[in-house]
Amino acid sequence: MAKKYSIPLRRWCLVAGLALLSGFLPARAATAATDAAADPMANARMVGEKRCVTCHDTEKNLFGHTQHAKVFRENPRNDTEKSVCEACHGNGSLHVLNATDKNLIVGFSKEWNTPIEKQTAQCLNCHTGGQRINWPGSAHASNKLGCSDCHNPMARFSSNGLLKKAGITETCQTCHQQQRAEFRKKSHMPVPEGKMTCVDCHNPHGSTAKKLLKADSINDLCYTCHAEKRGPFLWEHAPVRENCMNCHAAHGSNADKLLVQTRPALCAGCHSTTGTMGHAVFGNNTLGTVVNGDSTSFGQTNTGLQANTAAAATAALASKRMTGRSCQNCHSTIHGSNSPSGARFQR
Ligand code: HEC
Ligand code: HEC
Ligand code: HEC
Ligand code: HEC
Ligand code: HEC
Ligand code: HEC
Ligand code: HEC
Ligand code: HEC
Ligand code: HEC
Ligand code: HEC
Repeated sequence: MAKKYSIPLRRWCLVAGLALLSGFLPARAATAATDAAADPMANARMVGEKRCVTCHDTEKNLFGHTQHAKVFRENPRNDTEKSVCEACHGNGSLHVLNATDKNLIVGFSKEWNTPIEKQTAQCLNCHTGGQRINWPGSAHASNKLGCSDCHNPMARFSSNGLLKKAGITETCQTCHQQQRAEFRKKSHMPVPEGKMTCVDCHNPHGSTAKKLLKADSINDLCYTCHAEKRGPFLWEHAPVRENCMNCHAAHGSNADKLLVQTRPALCAGCHSTTGTMGHAVFGNNTLGTVVNGDSTSFGQTNTGLQANTAAAATAALASKRMTGRSCQNCHSTIHGSNSPSGARFQR
């Protein structure tokens, strides 16, 4: 009985085997064809740096001064790094045969036209995570910037970071002209002086906070350098806790101390709703006069104790004694006070 079945069984195996083989081979070929259609470089092999530089001699020399050249040439950790150029540009065997087909090598220049996602993926092969953990979906990524909008790894233009320009601030300002103007205002963060750069406050690779900030909130960012403003204070000034930007500009301003407005208009912006700036209540004649205005000091006709109209408030602000630090002659600890009697930020 076993023998009777052995022949058909063997024949079946042969047929099945052939069928499988014949099915399998075109299937593989088809997969390769689809790969090549989706990615023309799918079947390219690595050829190595020696081959590349037979045609790209200039690149070889300039590139030699970079961190990548040192690591890839002297201490490669794997075959990709050992290939040097192809670590970034992708396998080059097809490009070598047909150098003008732009689909056959990853180019990072605008003219070459490789899709930006493909360019970025080449770099992220090695640089994913770390500072770039929030790159996907970041303001720069979603505006179609690629790594090579800020970096040029082909030569050493900057002392660190393989940037396109000599410095960080210069690199950012090629696109951010408005911020460049802000840093030229009378009072500004010491960026143009070189004491600080854009990346002290921003992570150009992405962040979980808005505006690519390096801290969870604006105030947390400011506290990293201005820790004394963090408090907590016995007497808090509400707008300080809420957001430093209530009174300060982030980059620069033509008012003193990066203030968004000159003083005392700054204070009046929030404290003059009744035109009294809060002083009508205490009725101290001298104080009321100084702060709220009277005919003698301000050439304004009113009772002198209260400036309960917007016009009188404006006059008060124009007083000689109210210029400069003005309100802060008395309310000196404007960011908050720890003095038991500092409820009005007077000490
Ligand atoms: C036979 C000569 C030759 C070899 C070998 C060669 N290339 Fe090229 N490559 C060229 C030419 C020519 C162009 C410019 C084609 C054009 O502009 O139409 C080019 C263009 C490029 C570009 C695009 C530049 C751009 O504008 O962004 C890159 C990147 C590149 N090659 C990298 C490589 C790499 C990496 C290797 C080694 C795997 C390599 N090449 C090997 C001749 C060569
Ligand atoms: C770390 C990644 C990286 C490595 C390694 C690398 N390149 Fe590039 N290459 C780039 C980027 C990014 C650009 C685009 C630079 C720019 O903004 O103009 C570029 C540009 C080029 C260009 C276009 C012309 C130019 O200089 O802008 C050529 C050609 C080129 N590379 C060839 C090479 C060759 C040859 C090697 C090896 C000796 C190499 N690259 C190694 C990333 C790399
Ligand atoms: C095959 C892996 C690999 C690829 C691909 C790669 N890098 Fe690098 N990169 C490295 C290594 C290794 C270093 C050396 C420092 C280190 O160990 O992190 C480095 C360093 C850097 C530095 C710091 C250099 C310095 O002088 O401070 C920058 C910036 C950088 N890479 C950008 C890029 C960009 C942009 C690309 C894509 C165009 C890219 N890298 C592609 C491996 C890679
Ligand atoms: C908007 C500009 C900008 C873009 C876009 C950008 N970078 Fe950077 N990158 C910088 C600056 C600025 C530095 C800081 C250089 C320094 O500290 O000296 C830096 C530093 C780095 C470093 C070295 C420090 C570190 O984190 O290890 C690497 C690596 C790096 N970038 C990789 C990338 C890669 C990969 C991409 C693309 C996904 C990219 N960068 C896109 C501006 C940019
Ligand atoms: C190639 C042009 C380019 C360069 C270079 C560039 N940026 Fe940008 N940046 C943009 C674009 C485009 C946007 C999105 C539109 C906008 O807000 O202006 C943007 C947005 C931003 C934002 C606002 C993000 C938000 O969520 O609204 C910040 C902050 C920023 N960039 C900082 C930097 C810093 C820091 C550098 C240098 C390390 C830099 N940029 C370099 C093009 C650039
Ligand atoms: C002292 C910290 C600090 C420095 C340094 C700094 N920024 Fe900013 N930047 C901020 C803060 C805070 C904001 C958010 C302001 C807001 O939301 O009101 C901001 C906002 C921005 C925005 C978004 C503006 C908008 O209206 O959406 C851009 C773009 C920007 N910065 C670019 C830069 C560039 C470029 C540099 C370097 C030349 C730089 N910043 C340096 C703190 C800083
Ligand atoms: C990376 C550190 C750093 C961060 C973050 C930072 N600052 Fe500064 N800030 C400085 C330095 C440095 C100076 C200049 C001090 C000097 O020149 O004596 C300064 C100066 C100032 C001044 C005085 C300007 C003047 O004209 O005298 C104000 C106001 C100020 N910062 C507010 C802020 C605010 C608000 C934030 C948050 C958006 C902030 N700072 C974030 C470092 C920082
Ligand atoms: C209610 C308005 C207001 C708010 C909100 C505010 N500031 Fe100020 N800030 C001022 C005024 C006014 C000055 C000028 C002080 C002076 O001349 O004594 C000043 C000065 C400064 C200075 C420089 C002088 C000094 O005291 O060191 C720094 C730094 C500063 N502020 C940081 C901050 C930070 C950080 C925040 C957010 C936590 C903040 N400010 C919020 C009004 C404000
Ligand atoms: C962005 C709005 C805003 C600005 C600008 C502002 N303040 Fe205030 N200030 C407030 C708020 C809100 C309170 C809390 C009022 C309350 O608790 O009823 C307050 C409280 C005060 C108090 C204590 C009042 C009390 O009842 O405890 C004084 C004094 C004061 N501010 C002075 C100033 C001075 C001086 C300036 C200018 C350097 C200034 N403020 C700028 C919003 C502001
Ligand atoms: C000559 C000193 C002096 C000057 C200048 C001054 N204040 Fe006052 N201010 C006081 C005193 C004192 C009090 C508290 C009276 C009290 O404790 O009842 C006070 C109280 C306040 C209060 C709280 C009122 C309340 O309802 O409790 C606010 C708000 C205020 N001042 C804002 C300002 C503003 C804004 C300016 C500048 C336009 C200013 N002050 C200028 C001395 C001054």
